[in-house]
Amino acid sequence: MNDKLAQALNDQMNFEFYSAHVYLAMAAYCSDESLDGFANFFIIQAEEERFHAMKIYKFLNDRNRRATLTALGEPKNEYDSMLDAFEHGYAHEQQNTKRFYDLADLALNEREHATMYFLKWFIDEQVEEEALFDGIIQKLKRIEKDSNAFYMLDAEFASRTFVAPAE
Ligand SMILES: [Fe+2]
Ligand SMILES: [Fe+2]
Repeated sequence: MNDKLAQALNDQMNFEFYSAHVYLAMAAYCSDESLDGFANFFIIQAEEERFHAMKIYKFLNDRNRRATLTALGEPKNEYDSMLDAFEHGYAHEQQNTKRFYDLADLALNEREHATMYFLKWFIDEQVEEEALFDGIIQKLKRIEKDSNAFYMLDAEFASRTFVAPAE
């Protein structure tokens, strides 16, 4: 692969680490609100993002490119509500999808088939990510904060676990 594509993949690896940071900040907000299930949801989300970053890290190594770590931006630490946090998460995922489309365009232009196939996994994953956040936003819009349904959702998210996706 050429230097431009390698650099773009490296940027994306760092963006995935930053995404983990964004979701861990959301988890901390939930913990502070004593919503431990929602906090767990975002801790698992952060683990998934770290897994994504490491997937790119490994790919760069496999292609004889060095992964270069950069400073991460400061994530947003304050939210108005759970809905606010999930809406920010959704916007973050939409932004990430756009980044993968740009990466795929770059790989396509370079006829870098190995990278195109590698990126396909992430493009599929983004469909899941957007659907996950959108689904929760729709639920949160229908239920009142501090209602039984709200706490049932919190309890449901307490059982979310991280399972490394199959290759
Ligand atoms: Fe990701
Ligand atoms: Fe994500």
